[in-house]
Parts: sequence; C-alpha cells; structure tokens
Amino acid sequence: MTKTKLSPEQAAAKVMVALDKPDAKAALLLADQLQGAGCWAKVGLELFYAAGADVVRELKARGFKIFLDLKLHDIPNTVRGGSRSIAKLGVDMFNVHAAGGIAMLRGAAQGVQEALDAGEAASRPLIIAVTQLTSTNQATLNGEIGIPGTVEEAVLRYAGLTKEAGLDGVVASPLEVGAIKSACGTDFLTVTPGIRPKGSDAGDQQRITTPHDAVIGGTDYLVIGRPITGAPDPAAALNKIIEEMCS
Ligand code: C5P
Repeated sequence: MTKTKLSPEQAAAKVMVALDKPDAKAALLLADQLQGAGCWAKVGLELFYAAGADVVRELKARGFKIFLDLKLHDIPNTVRGGSRSIAKLGVDMFNVHAAGGIAMLRGAAQGVQEALDAGEAASRPLIIAVTQLTSTNQATLNGEIGIPGTVEEAVLRYAGLTKEAGLDGVVASPLEVGAIKSACGTDFLTVTPGIRPKGSDAGDQQRITTPHDAVIGGTDYLVIGRPITGAPDPAAALNKIIEEMCS
C-alpha cells in the first residue's frame, strides 16, 4: 500500500500512455499533445508493426521514456536475439510472456547483456514479463487456455518464474499487485494495464480498477490507453487522471 501522497510529477512519471494508433503520424500527433506532461509513451503491436523503429526514435527525440510492448514469446534463442535488437533501440522497458518459461525469460536478459557487452546499447532496459493478460478472466483461463485454479494463482506462478529468471517485474492487473509484492518483494516492479477512471468504458478489459485505487494498491506503472487516447482532449484526460492519482 502506498502511504504518502504523490506529487503531480511523481504521478505523471508512473503513467504509460498506450499510443495504440495505426501509423506514426497519428501517434506523433497524440504524443505532441502529451509532450512535457512527464508521462511515458508505450509503443505496442499496432504502432510498431506499422511504423517500426523510426517511431521509437521520434518519440525518444521528443523526450519520452519508452515502453516497447511487443510481448515476445518464442524459443529462447529467438527471444535472446530479439531482445538484443530491442536493446539496441534504446528503449527504457520492454516485455516478454512469462508463459515462455524460465529459459526463454533468461534468453531475454542474455540478449540485453550481449547488446551491452558489444557496445550496441548505452543502457539496460527494464525487462518485464506478462503474467496473464488483463482481458483474461477466470472462465477464459480455465475453460479456454486450460490453466486450472484462480487467476491470482496463475499470475503468482508466472511472477515467481520471472523473479527466478532475474527479470525486473511483471505486467499484471492492478488487483494482483499486493499479492505479487508480498510474494516477490516490494522492489519487484508491477506494470498494470486495466486502468479505468470512474465512469469510463471498460472495453475488452476484465480485471480493472481506477487510477486512484491502483496507486493505493502500490503499483509502479499504470498503463492507460483508451481513456486518454480516445478522449476529445487527451492532455486534459491525462491531467484529470494525474489529479485522481494524487488525491
Ligand atoms: O486502452 P487500454 O487502456 O485498455 O490499453 C491497455 C494497453 O495495455 C493496450 O496497449 C494493451 O495492449 C496493453 N496491455 C494490456 N494487458 C496486458 C499487457 C498489455 O492491456 N497484460
């Protein structure tokens, strides 16, 4: 649980805005509206597959910290190579799927280390593993994916694998942060999508909470897309969320 109130600057530095846009032009237009707010930019599948590494460089040039959300999930050697290439891009954080197992998770760390050793990367990005997507509920987990038990049990299992592999933290629902911190330690990072300010549409997200409750729950980073990117005034929507986080 977070005890001290956040300053607006501290709150902004915890927000990762998901720039889920179909091309660089739309993403950069949005980024320009948010520039100077102190938030991160999250580049995911939609934008990266359309605009590639160039858009990452453009966002970095505008001063954003970058979370490259490509959720790698492949054999360990391929994830090692992919992670080495990602480290070369100079992003601040990227992610893999914990479901790939410990060897794959270690492959990600190895790829980053290779980039650092070869002088291809100036700094080490944080490596985060996805536990269970925040669009997954109990019925999907048990009936479709075939994992028995509760969502929290599955999340904690994957968080444990991630910790064992030496990575920096996990993507999970804000509802699971307390249990993850208890099991893996307070320094083990939690990155949480599934954030919905009061009155906003949940969309396809299932395991959700408000920005205020996510902060109270102790999450390190709040990933927020549509409540900001779909708002008529994204900068105003971000400011309102920051206010809520500080209240
Ligand atoms: O629009 P919304 O706030 O739902 O956006 C959430 C963002 O977080 C999306 O870019 C989605 O890909 C990403 N994400 C997620 N659940 C995860 C990992 C990433 O929703 N487990």
